[in-house]
Amino acid sequence: MDIRKAVIPAAGFGTRFLPVTRTVPKVMLPVLNEPAIQFSVREAAVAGIEHIVFVISRGQEATNDYFQPTPSLELALEERGNADLLQAMRGISSMAHTSVVYQDEQLGLGHAVLMAKDAIGDEPFAVFLPDDIIYADSPPIGEMMRVFAEYGSSVIAVKQVPDAAIPSLGVIDPEPLSERVYRIKGMVEKPRLEDAPSNLAIIGRYVLTPDVFDAIENGRPGAIGEIQLTDAIEAVRAEQGAYAYRIIDDHFDVGTPAGMLKASVYAALLRDDMAREMREWLAAALVD
Ligand code: G1P
Repeated sequence: MDIRKAVIPAAGFGTRFLPVTRTVPKVMLPVLNEPAIQFSVREAAVAGIEHIVFVISRGQEATNDYFQPTPSLELALEERGNADLLQAMRGISSMAHTSVVYQDEQLGLGHAVLMAKDAIGDEPFAVFLPDDIIYADSPPIGEMMRVFAEYGSSVIAVKQVPDAAIPSLGVIDPEPLSERVYRIKGMVEKPRLEDAPSNLAIIGRYVLTPDVFDAIENGRPGAIGEIQLTDAIEAVRAEQGAYAYRIIDDHFDVGTPAGMLKASVYAALLRDDMAREMREWLAAALVD
């Protein structure tokens, strides 16, 4: 079964980034010159996903507008003969069909995903958490779809993380099947370090069966009092099994200003026209 649709939860106040998030949705903050959410949308499109459902708060329509055509900009670029930029701009609006659903109460990640239930319908789908930016030639979601095609049950991206990160993440109890694929024996959201079953933490890429929606509806608030996606996937796992795919690519959590800044510097260092200037400036800045 092909994965045709993806959910990208993007609602909330963006408290860590106030005051800029008073009017700019957090996911529209730039990693260098691209909004953070574009990384997830591009990754989905590259993997063949056709329809993306953004879960947003009221007033955050800019997130969806960004992926629509911009006729006056395109006309201006055409008149100026700026073919490369014109093509890049058209590329953004042709990546995927996008739509929005609203999450009016911040009740947790599971609750956010539940808002997309009708838009997804009765088919397996992907979830991208836009705070997680992954730099990979071949995006992990494509590999995860292959694992899903083999086993037919939930597939979650995981990464080996340092102990200090464990209490703020979801953590799996893994049974290795191959170098990068695990059968999941259990999973827990935001465990205390001493309760964590491993140091393989959930990174924001999922391929899920639609059964997860019922599990979210039937679930209760979990860690930090929120309706957790991890708890719903764990409930479905008990019935259908679940698998993990371990990423080894460069990964940034842009949910904090420091993470966002690191991702921007990393992006600049990848650019031919900026790398040298940035390296020289960083080297000098570190000496002072
Ligand atoms: C969410 C998930 C968690 C996962 C994390 C990855 O947590 O609930 O399992 O490890 O994303 O970024 P949040 O960051 O929303 O607290």
